Amino acid sequence: MTTHLPGAPGTDAPALAQDAAQPAAAPAWLSRFSLAGQVALVTGARRGLGWEIARALAGCGAHVVLNGREAHALEAAAQSLREQGASASAAAFDVGDAPAMRAAFARLDAEHGRLDILVNNVGGRLRQPLQSLDDAQILGLLHTNLAAGVLLAREAAQRMLKQGSGRLIAITSIAGPQARAGDAIYATAKAGLAGLVRALAAEYGPHGITSNGIAPGGFATEANAAMVADPAVGAHFASRTPVGRWGRPEEIAGAAVFLASPAASYVNGHVLVVDGGMSIAM
Ligand SMILES: NC(=O)c1ccc[n+]([C@@H]2O[C@H](COP(=O)([O-])OP(=O)(O)OC[C@H]3O[C@@H](n4cnc5c(N)ncnc54)[C@H](OP(=O)(O)O)[C@@H]3O)[C@@H](O)[C@H]2O)c1
Repeated sequence: MTTHLPGAPGTDAPALAQDAAQPAAAPAWLSRFSLAGQVALVTGARRGLGWEIARALAGCGAHVVLNGREAHALEAAAQSLREQGASASAAAFDVGDAPAMRAAFARLDAEHGRLDILVNNVGGRLRQPLQSLDDAQILGLLHTNLAAGVLLAREAAQRMLKQGSGRLIAITSIAGPQARAGDAIYATAKAGLAGLVRALAAEYGPHGITSNGIAPGGFATEANAAMVADPAVGAHFASRTPVGRWGRPEEIAGAAVFLASPAASYVNGHVLVVDGGMSIAM
């Protein structure tokens, strides 16, 4: 039986025609969020937001390649996904190590022959005034947070161009369009990543590849454990966030599934903010 969503443009369905006797539309629409048969690489996926994103992509049917620097911990994480019936493997490399990264892509080619989704999630910061950072610290942070993301995107897009399809997703931050003293390099790198997202959207859009970002606000990941444990910081944070609390790490995942999925086929060059409303609050 053909089903129409209520009032869908181009149909003559009465606005309230759909009822409990016609449930088929829901699975049909939900299939647009399926990632079955796709291969995804998620960097920084041993813990935190990367892990939640990887878990969700796997839960939607993708084979997920988990990246991080600790091979044993990564393999255990991939194994835990497999035990839940998902498809996952591990690729241990430091995203700042270009030869190691390229070798991992070569292994991915040999094992899967394709790459549909890249989530460039690795990021880190030193919350210090610029004057207290030396050259090596500044360049190291820029390398890991920004330059590595450019190289990753180039490697991934090389595969996606051959396929004529793909999803590039970068994890930026609300600390990019917004600024705070004592965090200059992180904000610089994240603003740069947002620029990369837009530039690649323009460059690869004609080739069936979309490029988007996700800008998290404050999430209760291990990286923020000390702040989350501090009641004074928590109260300040809650007062600045309309939702009134830290984000739970799993709350990042829906945005990633959406941007990776066929449902987002016309979303290109966008940075989706997931921050409980912090960045729009007065
Ligand atoms: N949490 C937040 O509130 C928040 C807010 C805005 C933006 N973000 C962004 O979201 C992303 C994830 O944040 P998070 O809080 O989940 O971070 P996290 O808890 O520190 O996790 C970082 C992950 O990346 C891996 N990693 C670190 N450096 C790596 C490298 N050089 N190469 C490969 N893997 C590396 C770590 O595993 P190993 O140590 O095993 O390598 C770990 O799995 C970052 O880009 C961050 O800037 C987070």
